[in-house]
Amino acid sequence: MRFPNFTLNSQVTIVTGGNKGIGRTIALCMAQAGAHVIVTGRTEHELQEVCTEIKRFGNKVLWVEMDVRNAMNVKRMVAQVLEAFGRIDVLVNNAGISHVLPAEDHTEEIWDAIIDTNLKGVFLCSQAVCRQMIKQKRGSIVNMSSQAGTVGLLNHVAYCASKGGVNLLTKVLALEWAPHNVRVNAIAPTVIRTPMTDKVFADKDVRAEMTAKIPLGRFGEPEDVAGAVIFLASEASGMVTGHVLLVDGGWTSR
Ligand SMILES: NC(=O)c1ccc[n+]([C@@H]2O[C@H](COP(=O)([O-])OP(=O)(O)OC[C@H]3O[C@@H](n4cnc5c(N)ncnc54)[C@H](OP(=O)(O)O)[C@@H]3O)[C@@H](O)[C@H]2O)c1
Repeated sequence: MRFPNFTLNSQVTIVTGGNKGIGRTIALCMAQAGAHVIVTGRTEHELQEVCTEIKRFGNKVLWVEMDVRNAMNVKRMVAQVLEAFGRIDVLVNNAGISHVLPAEDHTEEIWDAIIDTNLKGVFLCSQAVCRQMIKQKRGSIVNMSSQAGTVGLLNHVAYCASKGGVNLLTKVLALEWAPHNVRVNAIAPTVIRTPMTDKVFADKDVRAEMTAKIPLGRFGEPEDVAGAVIFLASEASGMVTGHVLLVDGGWTSR
């Protein structure tokens, strides 16, 4: 019999938006699971700081400043990674933004910023990385969706649309790239304590209202998401593709 392999030993792993919040925790946890980690984002001092922490695990590490909305930036990042590591085993498309406001107040600029970052960015990074994964005949892509891709959230019209888009993009890419042994999955978390959700956590009433919707009775932590990402990145999930894994404490089961 073959025992499931939950480790990421020497796997070359890119985490977009790895400089803060959920992405930062994912980057650290993947390094702890054995991966060499490439962290990307737009804030240089945070990228440097997380790389210093990752080095503690003894793995190779690289940071690349880039904007996921910009195809040239993405191509340059992939070229840098290939020059440094020669291959790419795992891509975690984590970078994302949100704006909380009524649909009638979403400007065109806000709509474009959310869709371009959360949906187009996932596509650009997946496409650029997959060309290498297809050559290798091996790879795992994990996209950061949200429970907001499964159920509507008030005042999140562009965000929900972007994450619903990520869910279907995940399924289509999974179908197209399965013949090349490249798996594509998504994680869909509930509310997680990060800089993105500072305002939710600051307001006692909103906090209570949100917690009441989570059957497990608590918000998620970035580590809850990282565990699911490691599973989907690792060989333990070798038969899983096109799946959206809810990490929502039961929110969407009601
Ligand atoms: N927090 C939650 O409750 C929650 C729930 C479900 C899903 N999610 C999803 O989880 C992911 C991470 O969220 P988070 O809460 O950790 O947010 P966060 O703390 O605000 O971090 C977002 C990350 O994305 C990066 N980023 C944003 N726009 C970018 C761009 N155009 N190009 C490159 N990097 C960019 C940021 O880098 P810079 O700061 O350098 O720009 C930062 O590293 C997002 O996709 C989010 O939608 C979050």
